[in-house]
Amino acid sequence: MQSLAVINQKGGVGKTTTAVNLGHALARAGHRVMLVDLDPQGHLSPCLGLFRAPAQGADQVLLAEPGLGDHAVSTRELLQVVPAGNDLGEVERLRGGVERGRLLQQAIDRRPPEVDYLLFDCPPSAGLLVMNALFAVDRVLVPVAGDFLSLTGLARLMGTLHKIEALRQRPLVRHVFLSRFVARRRLSREVREKIIEHFPSNLLESGISEAAVLAECAGAGRTIFEYRAKSRSAAEFSALATELLGLGDKEYGQQASHVA
Ligand SMILES: Nc1ncnc2c1ncn2[C@@H]1O[C@H](COP(=O)(O)OP(=O)(O)OP(=O)(O)O)[C@@H](O)[C@H]1O
Ligand SMILES: [Mg+2]
Repeated sequence: MQSLAVINQKGGVGKTTTAVNLGHALARAGHRVMLVDLDPQGHLSPCLGLFRAPAQGADQVLLAEPGLGDHAVSTRELLQVVPAGNDLGEVERLRGGVERGRLLQQAIDRRPPEVDYLLFDCPPSAGLLVMNALFAVDRVLVPVAGDFLSLTGLARLMGTLHKIEALRQRPLVRHVFLSRFVARRRLSREVREKIIEHFPSNLLESGISEAAVLAECAGAGRTIFEYRAKSRSAAEFSALATELLGLGDKEYGQQASHVA
């Protein structure tokens, strides 16, 4: 099983959009996928058409200890979702030491979900929920929208990941990709150049363009493959999935060791 967290503490960069559409792309390619909502905002379920999500989900996994599989809802062929649950925000208020960051990892170790890909949609923050994701996953996928504030945030995030990696004593592979990219906008292109300059081994070739259709399909509770299968956005998410599937473990290891 591969596990991956979609993270960026900046809001609105396309984390949830990525989790939903990448998750469906992987499922359509024949892989068993579980999407887990680690954001108390709970946007993942409605984006998949689950407008009245169960009151319990990832919150119980972190606060009460059952396995992820107990709260998974099947939404599409090979695609399950674990909703956030009403009490997920409580996790941020837990008292205690560093062990609070390992609750998710412990839950997965106790009862590993029977899937090929476990994908976490993280909140736009740097609190305990994100910490739990970072202790639990093999890789992180960081969407970066095209503005300079994103670059400052990215540098800070890379520093945080380095510290977490030392604590967990296991490599944490970082993939960065351009989300909400506008090719004709000079700023978008400049942000891409800066990422290539500073994080050359982390930037994925695939990127996602800004496209109104991605916002529309989320509102309709459908993935881009259901809403507009022939769109450029659908092709871009397929390409992102193909690129991730094509990267071998060896390459991940090399990439992790490159990051200072
Ligand atoms: N490539 C895109 N083109 C156009 N709209 C997009 C794109 N990606 C995301 N959006 C829209 O932008 C808004 C924010 O996207 P999304 O919810 O995926 O971001 P997020 O990073 O998960 O936000 P948050 O930090 O609040 O969780 C949504 O309305 C979404 O539909
Ligand atoms: Mg989100």
